Amino acid sequence: MTMGTIPRLPATPREFEEAARARLDPAHYDYFAGGAGDEVTLRANEAAFGRLALLPRVLRGAGEPRTEVALPGGRASMPVLVAPTAFHRLADPEGERATARAAAANGTIMMVSMASTVGIEEVAAAAPDATLWFQLYVQPDMPFTETVVRRAEAAGCAALVVTVDSPARGVRERELAHGFHDLPDGLRCENLRDGEAVRSLVMSPDIGWEHIDRLRRMTELPIVLKGIMNPADVRPAIEHGAAALLVSNHGGRQLDTLPATLDMLPSVVAAARGAVPVLLDGGVRRGTDVVKALALGAAAVAVGRPVLWGLAAGGERGAARVLALLRAEVREALALCGCASPADLDPTMVRRTC
Ligand code: FNR
Ligand code: LAC
Repeated sequence: MTMGTIPRLPATPREFEEAARARLDPAHYDYFAGGAGDEVTLRANEAAFGRLALLPRVLRGAGEPRTEVALPGGRASMPVLVAPTAFHRLADPEGERATARAAAANGTIMMVSMASTVGIEEVAAAAPDATLWFQLYVQPDMPFTETVVRRAEAAGCAALVVTVDSPARGVRERELAHGFHDLPDGLRCENLRDGEAVRSLVMSPDIGWEHIDRLRRMTELPIVLKGIMNPADVRPAIEHGAAALLVSNHGGRQLDTLPATLDMLPSVVAAARGAVPVLLDGGVRRGTDVVKALALGAAAVAVGRPVLWGLAAGGERGAARVLALLRAEVREALALCGCASPADLDPTMVRRTC
């Protein structure tokens, strides 16, 4: 590289992953990339998109497609949000500050992980234009949970994303193989700060619907329940005041052998009966994947690893580039499907190929 030249960024999601892999400590790459158990679910998420084909409509005079979406926690320029992922400073020294700026530059929403390595106040200050949702793991110590919620509110977060798929932490063999148990010296989960000390993140099997009720009473923020997979949980979620549901198997990192999120989406959407928007994450890598999920009823999707690969490969610029690529691809796919907006998609426009 000559002095003064800006390094070339990768051009496709796959190239971003390769570039990230080349730059990251192998233990950190595997922490980001890996899944639980035999990684059956991790593979299933992407494979499910591969089994669906798109069936465009023609001659609808749709014009230039609009990609904006309105959600309970705000508007986004595209139906692709940033999923909450932990430890961004393992990928880039600016960490979650860089990710938030990248999200803001693309007009989309970033869900900031409870396990972020930059405190929520600093993330918000670094990207004043960003719409941030705060992802919460309810801690069994409810007064402490409330202090975290208050911090998120004070920082201006527009929704609370409560992750409900983690009554225990998934066992990821890649992490065990590297002996990756904790953050390196100097990095902390800043949202777990309690005075001088930083608490450990607790995944508690005691968390139940009553905790969602308590959160509902605690805050005016819309509550998004992240990790709904079984349609049987949809009615209770709505009854307990969820403003939106996020179909997620945690990117295959919690319980292995869950189905692909895309395969569960239609039954979750059917169970929600239009009462609340349904979002999806897991395996979304291309604009065509986004359009498939929207055709099956998702209001929007979120991406986890692709943003981490962008961040690791090129910091803020890299993360912004990944999101910009997805935005361009969504627009192109909508146009080629004959759609003026995501609302023009419907389930007849996808077809299972095997
Ligand atoms: C995650 N995910 C996650 N979810 C959450 O609610 N809180 C968290 O702190 C994290 N942390 C986290 C770290 C890493 C490295 C990954 C890859 C994922 C899950 C995440 O929000 C999302 O569900 C998946 O990443 C979506 O799948 P894809 O897009 O990575 O395939
Ligand atoms: C993970 C946790 C932090 O998936 O949610 O690594």
